[in-house]
Amino acid sequence: MADKQAIEEFYIENRTFPPLSDFTQTALASDSSLYEEAELDFEAFWARQARELLTWEKDFTSILEWELPYAKWFSDGELNISYNCLDRHVQNGKGDKVAFHWEGEPGDTQTITYNELLIEVSKFANVLKDFGLQRGDTVAIYMPMILELPIAMLACARIGVAHSVIFGGFSPDAIIDRCEDAGAKLIVTADAGYRRGEPSLLKINVDAALDSGASSVKHVVVVNRCNIPVEMKDERYHWWHDLMLSASPNCPAEPMPAEQLLYLLYTSGTTAKPKGIMHTSGGYLTQVAFTHKYVFDLQPETDIYWCAADIGWVTGHSYIVYGPLTNCCTSVMYEGTPDTPRTELRNGQDRLQWSKDRLWDIIERYKVTQLYTAPTAIRTFMKWGSEELKDHDLSSLRVLGTVGEPINPEAWMWYHEHIGSASTPIVDTWWQTETGGHMITPLPGVTITKPGSACSAIPGVFAEVVDDAGNKVEQGGGYLTITKPWPSMLRGIWGDPERYLKTYWSTYEGKYFAGDGVKIDNDGYLWLLGRVDDVMNISGHRISTAEVESALVDHPSVAEAAVVGATDSTTGQAIIGYVILRGSCDPSNELRDEIRNHVAQKLGPIARPKAVFLVPDLPKTRSGKIMRRLLRDVAEGRDLGDTTTLADANVVSAIQDGAQKSTED
Ligand code: WTA
Repeated sequence: MADKQAIEEFYIENRTFPPLSDFTQTALASDSSLYEEAELDFEAFWARQARELLTWEKDFTSILEWELPYAKWFSDGELNISYNCLDRHVQNGKGDKVAFHWEGEPGDTQTITYNELLIEVSKFANVLKDFGLQRGDTVAIYMPMILELPIAMLACARIGVAHSVIFGGFSPDAIIDRCEDAGAKLIVTADAGYRRGEPSLLKINVDAALDSGASSVKHVVVVNRCNIPVEMKDERYHWWHDLMLSASPNCPAEPMPAEQLLYLLYTSGTTAKPKGIMHTSGGYLTQVAFTHKYVFDLQPETDIYWCAADIGWVTGHSYIVYGPLTNCCTSVMYEGTPDTPRTELRNGQDRLQWSKDRLWDIIERYKVTQLYTAPTAIRTFMKWGSEELKDHDLSSLRVLGTVGEPINPEAWMWYHEHIGSASTPIVDTWWQTETGGHMITPLPGVTITKPGSACSAIPGVFAEVVDDAGNKVEQGGGYLTITKPWPSMLRGIWGDPERYLKTYWSTYEGKYFAGDGVKIDNDGYLWLLGRVDDVMNISGHRISTAEVESALVDHPSVAEAAVVGATDSTTGQAIIGYVILRGSCDPSNELRDEIRNHVAQKLGPIARPKAVFLVPDLPKTRSGKIMRRLLRDVAEGRDLGDTTTLADANVVSAIQDGAQKSTED
């Protein structure tokens, strides 16, 4: 019965895409054997992966120790992460293989081989040692997307120092909070990094942070990326290039226990203090290497893989740095944004032109085989229109991935048709900072995909949909839980064991609660519905924002949509939609009504938005997640709450103006 469901389901998507035989012929996995093996004995399955994918200094005898909520994987084993990412490949004769084709936003490029990366990492590890850093210490990293960032991370891992990467878009306050919480002793930064044609300043934010807090930080290492004049304020400050000049390139990789802390990564809840998510070594590396290999069907000899995320997020940690390097893969790493200014000669004069085809240009030039990006980027490309693609050859692409938000079926179809030439498999990967690696995703040579569905849990991971009371839901909407521990799971929240237990392990007994709504269809496919905090209650019906957004994006004029439930005196909450039109569409009242009716047709009258606002942009975090809380504030005419994590502060006032101009029914 629909109205008994925890979250109701309205959106029905019937299209299916089986793997093509061209792909399955060479795919690493093309049948269900990995699933069957893991189903039989998931611990043995992960142990096999750990031994096959990684090199252990000391083999483990214990696979899993599980005392809810704490898991230890491979606990008596020893390994070094940086050895697994670098030394062993060099020893295997792969030293000249390219690790990263790096491209700066202004167009400067750098190619670094495994050999060269090992030398740089060893040198910086020696720099850290010279500052007295040792196993158990923490280093903060606040950098643009330049090669020194993975070098610094791997140097930490080499000597057992945990890193805490702070996203380069964050403010001095965020630096203070994170450094103080982790007791970071050193921070690595840069003068600035290029973003949309301008140097985006970083070091001054570190200065501001150190002026008013973060007293644990005793040393600051500064990379010169943009030649911005910076003041080395006191003896704590050092140039990266000076330190590296005299550093020795020999630094043995020290074997570490499997449960050695590898990193902290802070996730900002919308209101509360950020949580320092803890990830350790052996289990984490096993799952990221396994998923990077099988989910992207990695053919390491020939593939050029590109994850277009920022290393400041977990996606970059797991799928730019640790997974790809463990698998000895060649990656592309790009500093800037998809829309970048380019200088063009016109009528004898240099003119700055904004180009929106940078991604396609990079894919064509490097012959990228896997592209991993976010639904928000895909919807932006839809808005820009397919003309941006017309002069680019994207035929090298073999696998397309998405992460970060539910992907609406129409955005999936656009990705499939325009980027994947209607033949490249798409892997919609659901996971979280907390899960460390992919959890729910198709395998491209195995799974029959459905547009908008993340399909099913990977081999060795066990997902279950439950209702409000925690009972298993076989078909319909509910909450996503994970029923068994997995190797790359978070090991806790730094300094706050109670919050760890309460946030993730107390809602449903014995199960990890992810905080996401999900529905399961007749075939057992999982459809992610967004955060449960965003679920709307319309006249007693629990409707997910994701489904209404998908129905909005299904309208041919709509490129992107965000939906919120605003307080309403008759229905409890009313659905308010904010819509960005595709490039060529003209806004009008008729179009707004047509879009509202389209939703009613697709999902039923209960889901017809009370109002639809046509807006130029949506408020998003820099990782691309829509900030629905701000849209609720606008819809309910409230003053805006905290806007510091907003990628572009002007967006909200543009939406407020738009909302005022639109006439509500
Ligand atoms: C959302 C990013 C639907 C989800 C790796 C999750 C997704 C949160 C997907 C974690 C997906 C991520 N489909 N929703 N494929 N991937 N999410 O910690 O709500 O930045 O809980 O990790 O993003 O975001 P985080």
